[in-house]
Amino acid sequence: MNSDDTLCLTGGVPLVGTVEVRGSKNAVPKMMVAALLTEEPVTVRNVSFIRDTWLVSELIEKLGGAIDANARDGFLTLRTGEIRAAPAAEVAYYHKRSRIPVLTCAPLLHRTGNAEIWQPGGCSIGERPVDMHLQVLRSLGASVEHTEAGHRLSVGTGGLRGGVTQLDYPSVGATEQFLLGSVVATGDSELSNAAIEPEILDLICMLQRMGALITVRPGRIIQVTGASSLGGVDYTAIPDRLEVASWACLAMATDGRITVVGTRQADLSTYLNVFRRAGGGFEFSSEGSRAIFWRERTMPRPLVIETDVHPGFSTDWQAPLVTALTRAEGITVLHETVHENRLGYTEALRALGAQIQVFTECLGSIPCRFSLCNHQHSAVVVGPTKLQGTSLHVPDLRAGFSYVLAALAAHGDSVITGACLLDRGYENFREKLLAVGADIR
Ligand code: EPU
Repeated sequence: MNSDDTLCLTGGVPLVGTVEVRGSKNAVPKMMVAALLTEEPVTVRNVSFIRDTWLVSELIEKLGGAIDANARDGFLTLRTGEIRAAPAAEVAYYHKRSRIPVLTCAPLLHRTGNAEIWQPGGCSIGERPVDMHLQVLRSLGASVEHTEAGHRLSVGTGGLRGGVTQLDYPSVGATEQFLLGSVVATGDSELSNAAIEPEILDLICMLQRMGALITVRPGRIIQVTGASSLGGVDYTAIPDRLEVASWACLAMATDGRITVVGTRQADLSTYLNVFRRAGGGFEFSSEGSRAIFWRERTMPRPLVIETDVHPGFSTDWQAPLVTALTRAEGITVLHETVHENRLGYTEALRALGAQIQVFTECLGSIPCRFSLCNHQHSAVVVGPTKLQGTSLHVPDLRAGFSYVLAALAAHGDSVITGACLLDRGYENFREKLLAVGADIR
């Protein structure tokens, strides 16, 4: 374990200060993958230089691309005029570390006729299979062969061809795979029950500027007419709405006042309603790119929260908010309906003194996909609790932020190991904590 991996924190102080949030973690790396679709240069701006950004850069270089990165000014220029198949072992290395490399399948099928999938990495918050990715790629004409390590895919000499398919669930990744394949397939394609998260709509805007013809129809239907070739683009990614919400929760939990620079209100509207109901206050600058977050009341209000696909309450918002609501007077109920194994962090909160019980039943308005599957995906939190510092180990990205949040809201000292995982989603995490006055070593 290196020293960057361990954070020592002393909590109990209201955090006040300003942090800057750049491009979305769940949009930028996919835009980098989209650069594989064209032989012309692609520039992506407002880039957060988090772990996936570096990992995808390396992968694209292994595939023959060239990248100019400017971390200070937050932009990348990708040149993928010549793409080649990289040695399997090298590509497998990247698949095992992140969910992004699986999205290179569609562009690689287009450019080289072949692609491979290994069991993807990323946060362990559920089984996270790739069946819907394969379904989409098959619908676009790919043949899939199962191998010992994963799946080998290929297309014939005609390349990808338009197809129609419907997802059982609006998967973000499978929708992106569809977009990245259908925009260069021959003919028309349609995806029903597609995901329409802001990050997906941003990818669509970028692809449209590259020459793609994409229509988002009512009822989660995306229609695409394939282009014979796509051009380069200079595109600025949307800010990270998930990171903004994390800082807002930190302000609420510590009774502080945090200004976030780099916001877009429209992407946060569901979150802001819930934050306000919980007793959070916020104020945006007139053009919406800066917001201040604080707590309006002595104690937050308890809530009933159900995560869902967009425009519902994002699963990536729930852990920091539930952690902040351990301070609320009364009972908070959570139903997680997107990832079946995302409540592991509640165990750590219990270690800090919170009263939380998890359930396999659906404690929500309707039974979800995890009903009768024995996944612990609902929770009841009884507050208020004065958290007490302790030692914690970070299991996944959003849980990690929650631990930091809990430790900074708690009285006394905490030690958090595995903190490097936070670099997967929060750029300059330690510097930002110091900027809001956190006592971290
Ligand atoms: N799923 C399948 N089969 C598939 C694909 C997904 O069963 O082929 C299931 C998953 O197991 C999960 C659900 O469908 O239960 C949703 O998965 P989805 O494909 O929508 O998620 P993802 O693309 O793997 C992205 C974000 C996640 C975020 C989810 C949901 C990235 C890199 N990751 O994951 O972000 O939680 O969408 O919005 O974009 C995070 O930011 O902390 C994070 C985990």
